[in-house]
Amino acid sequence: MNATLDPAIRLRDVHLLFGRTLALDLEHLEMRAGERVFVLGHSGSGKTTLSRLIKGRLKPSTGTVRVFGNDPTAKDSRRETQRRIAMIDQEYFLVPRLDVVDNVLHGCLGRVSPWRSYLGWYPGEEWEKAESILEEVELGGLGYRRVETLSGGQRQRTAIARALMQDADIIVADEPVSALDPELAEDALELLVECVARRGITLIVNLHQPELARRFATRFVGLANGRLVYDGSPDGFTKQHAELVYRAQPKGEMRDEQPETGTPPTASGSDLRLVGD
Ligand SMILES: Nc1ncnc2c1ncn2[C@@H]1O[C@H](COP(=O)(O)OP(=O)(O)O)[C@@H](O)[C@H]1O
Ligand SMILES: [Mg+2]
Repeated sequence: MNATLDPAIRLRDVHLLFGRTLALDLEHLEMRAGERVFVLGHSGSGKTTLSRLIKGRLKPSTGTVRVFGNDPTAKDSRRETQRRIAMIDQEYFLVPRLDVVDNVLHGCLGRVSPWRSYLGWYPGEEWEKAESILEEVELGGLGYRRVETLSGGQRQRTAIARALMQDADIIVADEPVSALDPELAEDALELLVECVARRGITLIVNLHQPELARRFATRFVGLANGRLVYDGSPDGFTKQHAELVYRAQPKGEMRDEQPETGTPPTASGSDLRLVGD
């Protein structure tokens, strides 16, 4: 397998149904190692569902999802694939009563035996790593504070630190800055992108704000009603594309018809390119 040519993530003919709701309908989507893909879309457009498919928390109703060539839900390879994908959820899911450093150390659970971690017996090198990551995310000195005493921005950076601790090849961040005010949100994204770029990690960020995403993305993926309506460079993403992505869409029932795109400025032809190709 040639790591530089094979995509890190590949979705083919994926349909994901929740009851009669078609949450995702993606014919073909690939992401390559080292890309920073920002997934844009209105609420209910399928961003979280896409993240959960990549992370292996959901199986597609039909079609295939491959991460480094493996089905992320497959029994035999699941553990290893899961270790290679870190997730930063919208809610962070930190343990509020534990110290910052304990939360960050949870990032290495994939490589430390469960009983050791249960007792808090992490190897010395993991402690050192956690301390150094805390410095990197500007939380040095706060390692022994309980998470529940932190500000929103500090919690967010704890979640970033835990994801970095995992030594993952891919970080999927689902609206990671939605709880922060705009200035803090930009700082937090900048920090995340710097840490990720330093390590060559592939980054997928679900975000509402295209203008914020523009600064950090190498590629935009636009979803509307579970369908891909843009896939291309941030520079090529025009106001018309934004309209297409953010135009109010009916939600809910399964749709048989194609989305009425008129003559949409979809990313076809010269617009459509995988950055890094
Ligand atoms: N667990 C679920 N059960 C039923 N419907 C769901 C579930 N999760 C998501 N959906 C539906 O799937 C569609 C896509 O949702 P989601 O991926 O959460 O969108 P986004 O993250 O872009 O807001 C929406 O219509 C949503 O209501
Ligand atoms: Mg969501």
